[in-house]
Amino acid sequence: MTYKVRDIKLAPKGKRMIEWAEHHMPVLMTIRREFSRTKPLKGLTVGAALHTEMKTAVLAKTLAAAGARVAITGCNPLSTRDEVAAALAREGINVYAWRGETTREYYANLNRVLDYEPDILVDDGADLISLVHIKRRGLVNRIRGASEETTTGINRLRTMASRGELKFPVMAVNDSPTKRLFDNRFGTAESTLQAIMGITNTLIAGKNVVVVGYGFVGRGITSRAKGLGAIVTVVEIDPINALEAAMDGFRVARMAEAARIGDIFITTTGNLKVIRKEHMRLMKDGAILCNAGHFNVEIDIPALVKLAVKRREVLEDVNEFQLRDGRRLYLLAEGRLVNLAGMRSLGHPMEIMDMSFALQALSTAYLAKHGRGLEPRVHDVPTEIDRKVAELKLRSLGIKLEKPTVEQCKYLRSWQIGT
Ligand code: ADE
Repeated sequence: MTYKVRDIKLAPKGKRMIEWAEHHMPVLMTIRREFSRTKPLKGLTVGAALHTEMKTAVLAKTLAAAGARVAITGCNPLSTRDEVAAALAREGINVYAWRGETTREYYANLNRVLDYEPDILVDDGADLISLVHIKRRGLVNRIRGASEETTTGINRLRTMASRGELKFPVMAVNDSPTKRLFDNRFGTAESTLQAIMGITNTLIAGKNVVVVGYGFVGRGITSRAKGLGAIVTVVEIDPINALEAAMDGFRVARMAEAARIGDIFITTTGNLKVIRKEHMRLMKDGAILCNAGHFNVEIDIPALVKLAVKRREVLEDVNEFQLRDGRRLYLLAEGRLVNLAGMRSLGHPMEIMDMSFALQALSTAYLAKHGRGLEPRVHDVPTEIDRKVAELKLRSLGIKLEKPTVEQCKYLRSWQIGT
């Protein structure tokens, strides 16, 4: 069996979804046309663990057009779109993914992808890479390298590298300017707020929104929530980030203080238990809790379960936890990344994933060519790749760059004062 999906009959709907995404991902489609001619992945197998939704399908088809045999699974048990998985299977991609996988099924699917003995990995969160290092060591020598999509994955991989445990090179797609500045900031902001509104139908204007973490993701969410009329409070542990939040005009407070005022809490830290039971005890009746980080560890869900005397699903992806004193707290999408895990969550906008997945496609081709010569550590994506993505994106948007004059170029290269 070369695929395992929820229902193969969903394929026609998934195909239309993928076509819609293709129309809105001009950079990746330009790369697909180029790769169809040059076949940089000919004879290679790419194993991927990515949120298996319509934009990801455009990447998978691009890797296949480049000559690769592609095997793909999800990187979160709730983020797969079953229609898209079915359509990919029909396209000849080896896909093992469905929405609502158990933990056991999730790992079985990662292993199924590794059974293809991939030459290159494309990962989001580093579960696939870590599985190779823990349970599938026999594959290490075969793998030319991997590319990693997200901050959480990069943090895990840097830890592995610092302990000498990373056995092949990894391209830090997440850290590229054309990823981090757009996907992490604008992409997560729009997709997170879209998901909260889509799942709950709640108004953001006038609400007290508490954003935990002021990295790129936190910055994006605060700015867009403010744009929607929210009163935003930031919780931070880093002095520089906290100062930046304060000077961007946000109230900065400790969690214990923010807990009392928040109507909506959004975690973005990548760290565990940033909202704990002592905070939940202080929250207002009706507070909504959700997470925009990669793993479902940021809200202490076991503590919430223990605090609750009653629990029920009030809407799809909205769970109500009633506390002893009658207050009710609402957890979205089981505390998993809300912008992808909810039934109504769409993931980042297509135009954003266009750049992120263009970087993935180009990094994969780079690894095919240079992977064997790279040290086993986390590598920056070469600047030429970043510039290529930015230039293609500008072209697709019809934006032209100003050209410096000869005199200006000369001036910038000079060093004498006043000349
Ligand atoms: N769609 C596919 N991958 C995604 C990601 N990492 N974040 C948001 N949307 C996505």
